[in-house]
Amino acid sequence: MAFGLLQGKKGIITGALDEQSIAWQVALLAKEEGAEIILTNAPVAVRLGKVRQLAELLQSEFIPADLVSEEDIIQLYQRTVDTWGKIDFLLHSVGMSMNVRKNKPYTDLNYDFFHKTLDISAISLHRLLQIGLKMDIFNEWGSVVALTYIAAQRFFPKYNDMTEAKALLEAITRHFGYYLGKTKRVRVNTISQSPTPTTAGLGIPGFDKMLVFSEKLSPLGNATARECAGLVIFLFSDLSRKITMQNIFHDGGFSQTGLTEELLELL
Ligand SMILES: NC(=O)c1ccc[n+]([C@@H]2O[C@H](COP(=O)([O-])OP(=O)(O)OC[C@H]3O[C@@H](n4cnc5c(N)ncnc54)[C@H](O)[C@@H]3O)[C@@H](O)[C@H]2O)c1
Repeated sequence: MAFGLLQGKKGIITGALDEQSIAWQVALLAKEEGAEIILTNAPVAVRLGKVRQLAELLQSEFIPADLVSEEDIIQLYQRTVDTWGKIDFLLHSVGMSMNVRKNKPYTDLNYDFFHKTLDISAISLHRLLQIGLKMDIFNEWGSVVALTYIAAQRFFPKYNDMTEAKALLEAITRHFGYYLGKTKRVRVNTISQSPTPTTAGLGIPGFDKMLVFSEKLSPLGNATARECAGLVIFLFSDLSRKITMQNIFHDGGFSQTGLTEELLELL
């Protein structure tokens, strides 16, 4: 059932690779709720994923941009402004670690990879917001949402250097939330999402077991990508105008649960 929550709003959605992507589900729901969207992803994702298919399906424009490149972001915003003018929402749904991909142990990280992890997965948000502020891309009362994981607060063994990336992402969210709030009345929040079977998620060693563990430690069970999209739409909508600089756990209660009867029985 659609509510028209984003009627008359337009925005940019990063990170839709395939149907499993959280961003893919956000794009579908944003469209259902009346938004106009521009999709963007790294040029390599066009080859590996299905983002162009999604753009066709939603009759949206797709503008490739590598979010580690200032030039690409400027071009993305310039084309956006040329097509429509300013935006009301922005989804940051991007993450990648070569240390995770190559299964490097945390105590033997490759530092070039580590820098890339931080650059792609966290500093990209700063870059999007800094350039966005300079180019005056955001409409007043706009909304920015980025996706994070509870490993930013607690130890999870195989999350590796993505842990530091998520901690940085959440810090950038708070910090920029202040400046964008003060100057443009734009809010900036993160959603800390349950493990979700996507390309990025499944790349974490032992992810299947993490899924089962968090399902059993969450009174409501793991949150799906589609359910995450619902929360993103709420945060993009006018219903959440005074929520900013927050990290919102969307995890079925996992973050507040020490132990469950279900897990006890397994031990
Ligand atoms: N899947 C999970 O379990 C989970 C849980 C919590 C948070 N998250 C976060 O959700 C976000 C979306 O991930 P997902 O799970 O939907 O996986 P996904 O693999 O579908 O999406 C990750 C996206 O990042 C894009 N990307 C990588 N490098 C890029 C670059 N340089 N420039 C632009 N885009 C780039 C990829 O092309 C891909 O579309 C990530 O920030 C991820 O860390 C995921």
